[in-house]
Amino acid sequence: MIRLVFIALLLVGCQADDDEVLQGGNLILGASHGGDGSAWGLADCNACHALAVIHPEAADIRPLVRERGYGTCTGCHGGNGTGQPRRCVICHNATDLPEAPLLAGRHPHGFTAGKAAPLRDEQCLICHLASDMDGRFEPERDLTPFPDAAGYNTRYRRIADFCLRCHNRDHQQPGFELAGDGFSDPLIAVEDAWRFVDKHGLSAGSGERTYAGLRTGYRYRSVVECTDCHAMHGTENGKLIIDDSRKGVSRLEGAMREKPYRVVTTDGDYSRLCVLCHQMQILLDAGGEDTGNGLSGVHERGSDCRACHTHGEAVQAGL
Ligand code: HEC
Ligand code: HEC
Ligand code: HEC
Ligand code: HEC
Ligand code: HEC
Ligand code: HEC
Ligand code: HEC
Ligand code: HEC
Repeated sequence: MIRLVFIALLLVGCQADDDEVLQGGNLILGASHGGDGSAWGLADCNACHALAVIHPEAADIRPLVRERGYGTCTGCHGGNGTGQPRRCVICHNATDLPEAPLLAGRHPHGFTAGKAAPLRDEQCLICHLASDMDGRFEPERDLTPFPDAAGYNTRYRRIADFCLRCHNRDHQQPGFELAGDGFSDPLIAVEDAWRFVDKHGLSAGSGERTYAGLRTGYRYRSVVECTDCHAMHGTENGKLIIDDSRKGVSRLEGAMREKPYRVVTTDGDYSRLCVLCHQMQILLDAGGEDTGNGLSGVHERGSDCRACHTHGEAVQAGL
């Protein structure tokens, strides 16, 4: 049996790891490729690996790799020491993998706030350096390891841990410096703001407030992921707020999430977002009124929520 030897190439501090086998989930080729390193640095995969015989055990990817050909290899297996570009959109596009991920919408997380342009391969790689593409999203494997405040690549327990490695005041990543528009701009303040319940950080809500009630899938005293509200891959809304329930609200009961429900945000009216998860039990104020996407259950609609609800708001202690 051929031994599969791989080296983890990390973005930061590009180091040679312990020998790692393919089964470990790391698909990136290392300097011993070819058994003795004889295939390292070679660009022409075709010379040794025929499309017809590779991937006998990877039924999910085999047809697509065959169809798109050798231009796909480096996307999953790395540049093989050649510096060849790694392509993603060659497969992750509206035709081949229309739902993984949903890319439609003018605003993706393109690392420049407010800019509207489709994501390029290099940008996918900033967030997904070495995904195993096994059809299951695991933060630890599928998101790029960035160092924490102390400089260590500690595990991501949830997606928010990944976001906060960049979105903070004092331990940002080189090349991704964030200035923010003042002290309270969530771009830099969200690591602090995240300690408070509004916009759903670590502190547990009581579930005993005037407008209490959550839809199936969500519970009080639980943390809501950043990506339940913010779309990374494309949305029509500003501030990367999801425009479609399928792009976020990951724990919402399946049939409802898939329906899908639209989210349009205008002038600080986020009612169509909030109502995806919140549904007050005892109807008060605007609680019975359609927010505009067919759902009702929040105490205000059609007005600016930001006077009282912002990232880090800690004062919603009663009316
Ligand atoms: C000169 C021949 C040669 C070329 C060119 C070559 N490989 Fe390989 N490759 C091998 C050999 C031999 C092995 C098996 C030995 C090993 O495990 O490293 C291998 C192994 C692999 C493996 C690990 C799985 C396995 O069966 O060991 C992957 C993935 C891989 N090659 C991908 C590529 C890609 C992608 C390219 C093009 C960038 C490429 N190879 C170019 C010879 C080659
Ligand atoms: C979407 C990700 C993906 C792409 C693109 C991809 N591979 Fe793979 N490759 C895998 C996975 C996953 C495995 C491990 C599963 C297995 O052993 O079949 C693998 C294993 C391999 C192996 C070793 C065992 C085997 O299945 O033959 C070789 C050789 C290989 N790939 C070559 C290539 C070449 C050449 C290309 C470009 C034509 C390519 N791969 C494109 C994901 C990919
Ligand atoms: C700013 C970081 C970021 C960028 C840039 C990014 N992603 Fe993601 N991606 C994530 C996060 C976080 C998740 C998990 C949460 C989610 O699904 O939104 C994810 C999930 C995924 C998934 C699995 C979930 C699904 O919808 O099927 C795929 C596939 C994916 N990304 C591919 C891509 C591709 C392809 C690109 C480039 C076109 C890209 N990503 C760009 C952060 C990013
Ligand atoms: C051969 C086409 C192909 C290429 C090229 C490709 N992918 Fe994938 N990718 C897939 C398939 C197929 C899946 C599994 C989708 C599913 O079953 O939901 C996947 C899944 C993913 C996932 C979801 C997590 C997981 O483990 O399934 C991420 C993230 C991802 N790809 C990112 C990328 C990035 C980043 C690139 C470029 C570096 C890339 N992909 C290149 C085919 C490809
Ligand atoms: C590698 C660093 C990095 C990571 C990781 C990262 N971001 Fe960002 N983010 C940025 C940069 C850089 C900007 C652009 C800032 C600017 O232009 O002032 C940005 C902008 C944003 C914006 C504002 C976009 C706009 O158009 O208004 C939001 C919202 C955001 N990020 C959320 C997230 C979330 C949620 C995650 C985790 C899933 C995440 N980011 C992960 C670096 C990062
Ligand atoms: C993805 C689902 C989701 C969305 C979208 C959402 N929420 Fe929540 N919300 C929750 C969950 C879950 C809790 C309970 C959190 C906890 O216990 O820490 C909660 C708690 C709260 C609380 C605290 C309640 C308490 O008992 O202390 C407030 C206030 C709140 N949300 C306001 C909003 C507003 C305003 C919006 C729209 C901008 C919104 N939520 C959007 C899921 C969501
Ligand atoms: C319940 C939904 C929700 C969750 C969860 C959430 N956000 Fe937000 N976020 C919003 C809303 C709504 C805004 C817009 C507020 C406004 O208009 O001032 C926003 C604004 C932002 C902004 C400012 C964007 C800009 O361009 O001004 C950033 C950055 C951001 N969030 C990052 C995050 C990060 C990182 C997380 C996870 C730690 C997170 N958010 C979790 C709803 C959410
Ligand atoms: C004038 C201030 C104010 C404005 C404006 C406001 N809210 Fe609230 N909201 C509150 C207060 C106060 C609470 C908590 C009530 C309590 O503590 O009993 C609350 C609670 C909530 C909750 C959490 C319900 C729960 O306990 O689970 C949601 C969801 C919510 N508001 C949505 C909205 C939406 C959507 C808008 C904008 C369309 C909005 N709010 C505008 C003051 C406001």
